[in-house]
Amino acid sequence: MDTKVQQDKGIYLDYNATTPVDPKVFQAMEPYFKEFFGNPASAGHHWGWLAENAVTKARAQVASLIGAKSSEIIFTGGATESNNWVIFGLISKLREENPNEPIHFITSTVEHSSIMKAMAAAQKMGVEVDFLPVNSFGQVEIETIRKAIKPHTKLMSFIWVNNEIGTINPIPEIARLAKDHKIYLHTDATQAAGKIPVNATEMGIDLMSFSAHKIYGPKGVGALFIRSKDPKVQLNPLIYGGGQERGLRSGTLNVPAIVGFGVAAEICEQNLSAEFAKLTNLREFLWTKLQDAIPGVRLNGHPTERAPNNLNITLPGFKTEQILPRLQKIGVSTGSACGTGAMVVSHVLTGLGMNVDDVQCSLRISVGRWTTEEELLRAVEILKNSLR
Ligand SMILES: Cc1ncc(COP(=O)(O)O)c(C=O)c1O
Repeated sequence: MDTKVQQDKGIYLDYNATTPVDPKVFQAMEPYFKEFFGNPASAGHHWGWLAENAVTKARAQVASLIGAKSSEIIFTGGATESNNWVIFGLISKLREENPNEPIHFITSTVEHSSIMKAMAAAQKMGVEVDFLPVNSFGQVEIETIRKAIKPHTKLMSFIWVNNEIGTINPIPEIARLAKDHKIYLHTDATQAAGKIPVNATEMGIDLMSFSAHKIYGPKGVGALFIRSKDPKVQLNPLIYGGGQERGLRSGTLNVPAIVGFGVAAEICEQNLSAEFAKLTNLREFLWTKLQDAIPGVRLNGHPTERAPNNLNITLPGFKTEQILPRLQKIGVSTGSACGTGAMVVSHVLTGLGMNVDDVQCSLRISVGRWTTEEELLRAVEILKNSLR
């Protein structure tokens, strides 16, 4: 990545939304658009075998990042699809086995919309869903979960690292509780995999969603980890067809994207601790400079149990909707998202107990692999001036 080109185009501080593709990833993907264009399902010729081999390698790279076996990784179109699949694939499986048995799912009020909305759709299908409150840091507490468990609870789904506030949920502890009650634990690890140590097998996770474009891979490809032993997790397919991905997710595989996902995962795994330290330093540098420049600025989320690369701040009295146009070319995101043209107040920030005024004065700033201190200093200066 040519950081100079990036700087000329502005200062990108929205790495939680998406990341640029790492040049090494792009390089690895390129031949799979051109000379190695085969369909991995074409078992009868060279082109097919080359593609199949590439997918096998990428599956091992992705599995290794999260401490799983290759056979436990199913490629999907992204974390949104993986999250939806867990919910609807499980409902379908449970109903097939016991059509009259009630089903109860547990989640929280600060999940990504792909869980929130899929859970709401599950409710319409007759599934009982509890959206548990979180503490003021955005963490779901073990006792709150314990109290919500019912005899017919089949699934708990909790975000590992919150995409808006960066707070880390105690997933290994939740996994132990889930195991004690023989309930599947799914975690949306889209902002965790590649950023913090994740070991699905050792940490007792049953199902895990994650995505390539948050870790310097391409968009439109993700994965679902499905535990194969102790317990062997069973889901029905979300997509039926030619039987790819062990019949669980049909459709011709997006080979170049999968190859890119594999390389992106490998780079993250190799550099995890160095990158964690670098990003944490950048984030702390930014937070110190922000506090010096803007009196009254507040941090949202957990002060220490947070993703290395994320800050979510409130600038009391300054509506971000008004500030954003003055930020020139700084890429940050607000506590309110513009969905279908209308401003939507963040359910995550209100979930922490923040009032709507403060939510509307909040910004998410996320740094990444190519962020520099110099960029952060300029960004703080521009932000400070925008408040005048
Ligand atoms: C926590 C979380 N879950 C799910 C998603 C959706 O991922 P994808 O864009 O791969 O569908 C995102 C991305 O915005 C996310 O941050």
